[in-house]
Amino acid sequence: MILHRLRLENFRQHVDSELEFYPGITAIIGPNGSGKTTILEAIGWALYGSTAMRGKNADVRWLWSDDAKQQVRVVLDFALGDRGYRIERVLQSASLIDLTNNKAIATGITAVEQEVERLLGMTCNQFMTSFFARQKELEFMNYQKEKRRDEIAKMLGYDKVSTAIDKLKDDGKALKGEIKGLEQGMGSLDDAKEQAKEAKAAFEASKEEQKAAAGSEMSAKNALDKKAPEVEVVSKKRTESEQVEKELSELTNRRQNLMGAQQTLRKQLQDMQGAVDEFESLKADVEEYRQATERLNHLNSLAEIMKQQAVVEAQLAQIETQIESLEKEIAQLQSELSALKADPLEAATQALEKEQSAWQSERGRLAAELKQAQSDLESVSDRLAAIHEMGAEAPCPVCARPLGDQYKTVKEQREAELAGLKAKIKTLEIKVADQGEPPEIVRLRARLTDSQKAAEIQKEIVQRQTSISKLKTDKAQYTEQIARMPSGLDESERKALHEKADRLKPMYERSIALTGQIQGLSEVESRLRQSEADLKSIAERQESLEKRKSEIGYDPVADEILQKEVRALEQAYNQAHTRLQVAIQKAQSAEASLKNAEQSLNEIEARKARLDAAQKEFAVMQHTNNGLVAFREQLNAEMLPALRQYASEFLSEMTEGRYASIQLDEDLNATLLDDGDLAKAVISGGEEDVLNLSLRLALSRLITERAGQPMSLLALDETFGQLDSERRSSVLNALSALREVFSQIIIISHIEEIIHASDRAIRVSYDHRKGSQVQPEEVDAELLV
Ligand SMILES: Nc1ncnc2c1ncn2[C@@H]1O[C@H](COP(=O)(O)OP(=O)(O)OP(=O)(O)O)[C@@H](O)[C@H]1O
Ligand SMILES: [Mg+2]
Repeated sequence: MILHRLRLENFRQHVDSELEFYPGITAIIGPNGSGKTTILEAIGWALYGSTAMRGKNADVRWLWSDDAKQQVRVVLDFALGDRGYRIERVLQSASLIDLTNNKAIATGITAVEQEVERLLGMTCNQFMTSFFARQKELEFMNYQKEKRRDEIAKMLGYDKVSTAIDKLKDDGKALKGEIKGLEQGMGSLDDAKEQAKEAKAAFEASKEEQKAAAGSEMSAKNALDKKAPEVEVVSKKRTESEQVEKELSELTNRRQNLMGAQQTLRKQLQDMQGAVDEFESLKADVEEYRQATERLNHLNSLAEIMKQQAVVEAQLAQIETQIESLEKEIAQLQSELSALKADPLEAATQALEKEQSAWQSERGRLAAELKQAQSDLESVSDRLAAIHEMGAEAPCPVCARPLGDQYKTVKEQREAELAGLKAKIKTLEIKVADQGEPPEIVRLRARLTDSQKAAEIQKEIVQRQTSISKLKTDKAQYTEQIARMPSGLDESERKALHEKADRLKPMYERSIALTGQIQGLSEVESRLRQSEADLKSIAERQESLEKRKSEIGYDPVADEILQKEVRALEQAYNQAHTRLQVAIQKAQSAEASLKNAEQSLNEIEARKARLDAAQKEFAVMQHTNNGLVAFREQLNAEMLPALRQYASEFLSEMTEGRYASIQLDEDLNATLLDDGDLAKAVISGGEEDVLNLSLRLALSRLITERAGQPMSLLALDETFGQLDSERRSSVLNALSALREVFSQIIIISHIEEIIHASDRAIRVSYDHRKGSQVQPEEVDAELLV
């Protein structure tokens, strides 16, 4: 297989990358994460779809695309032998075209995958193992022997045999466990058969017993059923006759009760009729008593009125006495009034007030005059003092100029004025001191006192006159009351009537008591009539019941005998029934035991059958396992010489004949043989790397050869990343020697040096907006290793 061209669109960070491939060594260089491995991944995806991918299909689209619908697309042009092909793959479909004639060979994901597998002659896993190699795949010589064997088996596709062997081992273990369990828990088959036989015999015997018991139960029941009609007739008669007897005894009771009640009623009636006779005999006396009491009541009320009249008359006499004494008092008061000769009260008051107010204003005037004179005296003495102090310089009281010559005159005038004022004050003070109450006022006050007294007396006269007129009104009322009172009370008549009433009263009271007794007479009579009618109908009913009794013709003695017979038959039936129930139960438990015995027998037989089958299965498994183990050994044995030969050839090629061969033991342990088959005990790290690479390439060759493909393409992804520069250059040197074997070698690395071992280079860089960028780069031919 030779690669020509690869185009990536929106495949992971490769938004739009195109790479051209040529024969010889191509280095793909770029920093970590720039998108180098993605290029190999895209080749795998184009050929085999999602099986060749890291992660899921859904995550492959360029994450930072603005357009979520951007198509993911990879186009790969390659050659196989002399034919050119193109695969174009998007997420949901793929197509494979033969470029030689431009014809589509397959369309659709499944069809393309199948066609690719057919063309290349290998599965996806085999393709990845033969053409592509990763760093860790060159370390397998350092693994433990089991892991090494497993890894190589996996690369060659032998791992399926190992998986089958492991599976067989696990299944065999489980089957062995089952066989052991079956053997341990299994009981004896003969014992089980014997037990089943015994259980069957017991069950059949119990069935026979049950049949016999059922027969005797049936005949006991028949005998009982035969008696049934007779029993029914007798029991019907018994019931009916019992009902008649019951009613008869109730009737007898009722009749007796009725007769007792009738007797009581008759006695009551007799007593009542006696009371009626006595009531009639008392009627005349009762009437006389009623009339006498009526008259007596009238006379008694008259006597009462007479008593009231005496009281009213006494009150009247009292009123007249009161009027008389009041009139006397009025005459006394009037003579006192005329003796006083007083002025009317209002006039006397006014005269006194007039006189008092005149006196008061005179007193005020004198006080004011005195106050004025005292104030004048004060100001004149002040002025005089100033004139004394200033002499002729004192100001004129009229023009305010200094007095000068007038001084003396003015001084004398002032002194005279002062003396006048002092005399006036003295006179006024004497007047004020002498001013007592005037005699006229004293006289007027005495007059006023008389007027007040006269008014008092007048008031009392009016009061007494009012009392008299009220008493006179009462007097008229009482007089009229007396005039209206009836008269004509005869005390001797009253006494006679009293005696008569006393004598007749017991007769009257007896007649009242008799009235109570007589009440309810007609009620007693009607109850008596009713009870007689009831007694008659009871007698009729009794007669008809007696007749019915003899018609039924129930015989208690015969009934007793029949019942005894029936009880005996029932007892016999019950015993037979119980016997049958016991027999049924016995048969049921015998049946259950039989079923159990049969079930255990079946179980033992089934278990035995399963054990036989499992033992056979186990034997087959063992054979298969042995066969597969032998087959795996055979495969290893066949693979070993070829692997050894190819690895030796690569080694010799890469060391330019320095080391000619490799020895491989059963565990795929490799030893380097120096010239002439001498095993090299100690090898350098670089030599170990070359040895590993030789083995890895030998494996690739084995796979490609089996697929019928020539060795052509080799892609190494970071295979040298971990090596120091000396070991790296020794491996690179070795690789150059392989140009003859692999026409196209692709080395992926982040190490710049690799360029110098290559024929051409492609640089991969990453830009977070545009994604990964690929750019072919010139290689300085002179620097080639
Ligand atoms: N769908 C995607 N869209 C964008 N980036 C993605 C997508 N899927 C994976 N990546 C990025 O691609 C990078 C890995 O790419 P790749 O393995 O090709 O790198 P590399 O160049 O081989 O790096 P190294 O030298 O470390 O092996 C990671 O940074 C990962 O985040
Ligand atoms: Mg990588």
